[in-house]
Amino acid sequence: MSLPAIASRERPPLALPRMPSVADLIAKHRPTLPVYALFPNAFHDVVKAFRDGFPGETMYAVKANHARPVLDRVYGAGIRHFDVASLAEVELLRENYPDAKLSFMAPVRIRGSAGEAYRKHGVRDFALDSDEELATVLSETGADKDKSAAAGLTLFVRLYVPADGALIELSSKFGIGISAAVALLKKIVAAGAKPALTFHVGSQCLYPRSYETALARCGEVLRNTNVKLAALDVGGGFPGYYLNVTVPPLEEYFEAVRRGLVKLALPKDCAVYCEPGRALVADGLSVITQVSHRRDHTIYINDGIYGSLNEYALKNWPVRFPLKVYAEGPSGRIVEKTGRIAPYKAFGPTCDTLDVLHYLIDLPDTIAAGDWIEFQKLGAYSCALRTAFNGFYPDTFVEIADPR
Ligand SMILES: Cc1ncc(COP(=O)(O)O)c(C=O)c1O
Repeated sequence: MSLPAIASRERPPLALPRMPSVADLIAKHRPTLPVYALFPNAFHDVVKAFRDGFPGETMYAVKANHARPVLDRVYGAGIRHFDVASLAEVELLRENYPDAKLSFMAPVRIRGSAGEAYRKHGVRDFALDSDEELATVLSETGADKDKSAAAGLTLFVRLYVPADGALIELSSKFGIGISAAVALLKKIVAAGAKPALTFHVGSQCLYPRSYETALARCGEVLRNTNVKLAALDVGGGFPGYYLNVTVPPLEEYFEAVRRGLVKLALPKDCAVYCEPGRALVADGLSVITQVSHRRDHTIYINDGIYGSLNEYALKNWPVRFPLKVYAEGPSGRIVEKTGRIAPYKAFGPTCDTLDVLHYLIDLPDTIAAGDWIEFQKLGAYSCALRTAFNGFYPDTFVEIADPR
């Protein structure tokens, strides 16, 4: 295959090969290794939906997909504020998007990383959910000794909220109760930093009302303290529009946030943020895989759960990703394969038996070695989670001009 692998940390500009459609990409390159097909319009559309509908500023949660070609398109669509979870993400963003604002929203950090993000990279926003992490941030940034350093910090207390509307809960690891949050906010004020609140309703949140419930909990915190909030961040959790799960349009989520905010009567200068990962990138990327081998109703493909298909290994994950199959037609043209559908077990490319998609996928009965399967809407938590296990590390990106 003549497509170059794109090293994710290469300096800009990352010019990608551009194809009119996925079929054209396959026709030209007949890829035998996985290819990430990017749809720039999808990034623009969803960023516009957030810009027009969310009542505040939208950050992108870099963890959902930190591949440079994806970041380039999120940035290109107008996002300038990023939620980062590690020093490596801070450095990646700083190096490539020097004007970006970075907020370090992991409530427990690797020791030393808050200080380095603060000193070397100008990060001033940090999430936390314990006295210990507050002490760590204050001492690593020098804010424990220097009042003006403290005044420059915005410290977000991560509040526990129920995750009953989300397919992936993010509430059992981080987040504290209402009285603990009140106490921590007071300590932040006493330290001279700006107090803020954040929460996460869980990933792929099915119910807009979860945001309203979470904001009502923020209201309880605020009723128990006279702390004047500098910022409120409603987190991520906004959904991707996949198969098998019905989710309301994004506008209903924004409406729920609006309703929740009205009841809080926040100070006029309180900043409001959200930090979606999945919702901003899910639609913009397909993974093009090839079938290496078929054995009855089992296929062996060139990507798997150690690569880009990690979400196929999630427990209790009803989501199905839309699939399309392409094959070489009689005239040598690449055509979409349709026809009677049957369920297939799909193994990934490694020698590991565990490298199998955890549920059967529906494919045309005539699927054969050499055909290509396009796994659509896989922009979130796909290439972000790939490993080099067994020597497989997909890293080839192509831009598709066609909106699909
Ligand atoms: C702190 C934080 N913010 C944002 C996100 C992104 O969540 P999602 O992709 O569900 O929008 C996550 C996901 O783990 C997170 O932990």
